[in-house]
Amino acid sequence: MKFFIDTANVEDIRKANDMGVICGVTTNPSLIAKEGRDFNEVIQEIAAIVDGPISGEVKATTTDAEGMIREGREIAAIHPNMVVKIPMTMEGLKATKALTAMGIKTNVTLIFSANQALLAARAGATYVSPFVGRLDDINMPGVDLIGTIAEMFDIHGIESEIIAASIRNPIHVIDCALAGADIATVPFKVIEQMCKHPLTDQGIEKFQADYKAVFGE
Ligand code: E4P
Repeated sequence: MKFFIDTANVEDIRKANDMGVICGVTTNPSLIAKEGRDFNEVIQEIAAIVDGPISGEVKATTTDAEGMIREGREIAAIHPNMVVKIPMTMEGLKATKALTAMGIKTNVTLIFSANQALLAARAGATYVSPFVGRLDDINMPGVDLIGTIAEMFDIHGIESEIIAASIRNPIHVIDCALAGADIATVPFKVIEQMCKHPLTDQGIEKFQADYKAVFGE
């Protein structure tokens, strides 16, 4: 399983990229709004940092296929690594089909069922994004959905990649990897949590103390 970072914060993206652990970025309208900056400007900065797929979503207020196609073309024109993120609706599927036919990569987002994932894949989605944490929030096991989609795509030789999204903690990451997600898109906080272990910190402290006791600073 590969990692994308799920943020529009350029500093966090730079830190994760410098560590060599991510190979792509996903953004969404809420994440862009959180930064309070111009969409194109942020995306261009991200593209200058990460050499990999960058998902930029069509405007949250655009609900018709025609509008999504128009915006999708604009997003794709920002940089060759752009992936157009489209909501999982019937209009979204129409837009996915059209953009795919133009050779533009798509990420169908807000997927909460296996049937939605199957439809998105058949419409030509490069990526499908099932939301793990938001399902957990309503008492439905989000990771089970990842497993079902992975099994279904495997049986039918479907090439759309599964991005496990709405990842809230390090256990989600392990469970999604075991369930067959191709990619997990994770907030920077989860990367930090994955990195940390109290025994690693204790080990470093002891090595430092032992070293200093004999050799000094
Ligand atoms: C997916 O690409 C979304 O940006 C994201 O993972 C949503 O996560 P949230 O449910 O924590 O907002």
